[in-house]
Amino acid sequence: MTNLQFDRHRRLRNSANMRALVRETHLNVEDLIYPIFVLEEKGQKNEVPSMPGIYQFSIDRLHEEMDEVVKLGIRSVLLFGVPNHKDEVGSEAYNDEGIIQQATRFIKENYPEIIVVADTCLCEYTDHGHCGVIHNHYVDNDESLPLLVQTAVSQAKAGADIIAPSNMMDGFVTAIREGLDQAGFENIPVMSYAIKYASAFYGPFRDAAGSTPQFGDRKTYQMDPANRLEAQREAESDVMEGADFLIVKPAMTYLDIVREVRDRFNVPVVAYNVSGEYSMVKAAAQNSWIDEKQIVLEKLTSMKRAGADLIITYAAKDVAKWIQE
Ligand code: PBG
Repeated sequence: MTNLQFDRHRRLRNSANMRALVRETHLNVEDLIYPIFVLEEKGQKNEVPSMPGIYQFSIDRLHEEMDEVVKLGIRSVLLFGVPNHKDEVGSEAYNDEGIIQQATRFIKENYPEIIVVADTCLCEYTDHGHCGVIHNHYVDNDESLPLLVQTAVSQAKAGADIIAPSNMMDGFVTAIREGLDQAGFENIPVMSYAIKYASAFYGPFRDAAGSTPQFGDRKTYQMDPANRLEAQREAESDVMEGADFLIVKPAMTYLDIVREVRDRFNVPVVAYNVSGEYSMVKAAAQNSWIDEKQIVLEKLTSMKRAGADLIITYAAKDVAKWIQE
């Protein structure tokens, strides 16, 4: 016994069941969106060298991945296409027979319950690797919009459940919303990459998707990592334009932004746990420097604690397994 006056916070930490009783944040398998890379050649399952455990699949082998996804209880996938043909205007992005359109049809035919989120961008499809049309080495905003709209409509026609525009052109939500509505897809939601920073954490993804810019960088359209108020302006515009979800990307180093967006807006907030964040943990774990399971669960729980409703993560399959255990 002591005469000192203080609070005994440790009372609520004394056993695993007590800790579970007072736990404020929970990770659920329904929160997870799993990104998948789809290739055009047949018979392929290629591991991405900079992303251990992540593969590019051809459509004839996509069932291997999808069967596992379904078995683990994951309900949503985000599709990225790796096309054979690239050109100046990214025409494979809005080809009704393009790789994403085929992959979407395959999934919706064989796994109708799974939510297919289509990443709507041009960078995987342009030969210069930028996310829009180039004029004088500058990505032209207003000329890129119609191509993005065509891409979104083509993805919706193929059966995509959610359109996720990621190219950071101004006005893309308005343009896509209008395009979808006119094509009769007024019930397809838009999950906007509203807040997307020009981040070095996308490096491994660009290997996986073959979308490294051939000149310059993305800093004239993606955001400066130093900016917080700008994130609010981006989110405001997209909500006004009709976005149904807001993505904050990357996640780990932008949890302050996730919190502010969660507090200010009433649409579901999605944290994108990007490729570099995934690969850093994998690399450290392969060296036995960290405990992968504990680190991944801690980092995803932090995203939810910061206010994310959903998490896009390459670790979704591992997490689904760990949650089941
Ligand atoms: C397409 C796009 C990118 C990512 C998602 N959509 C690449 C980029 O902007 O360069 C990155 C995802 C990741 O790193 O996991 N624009």
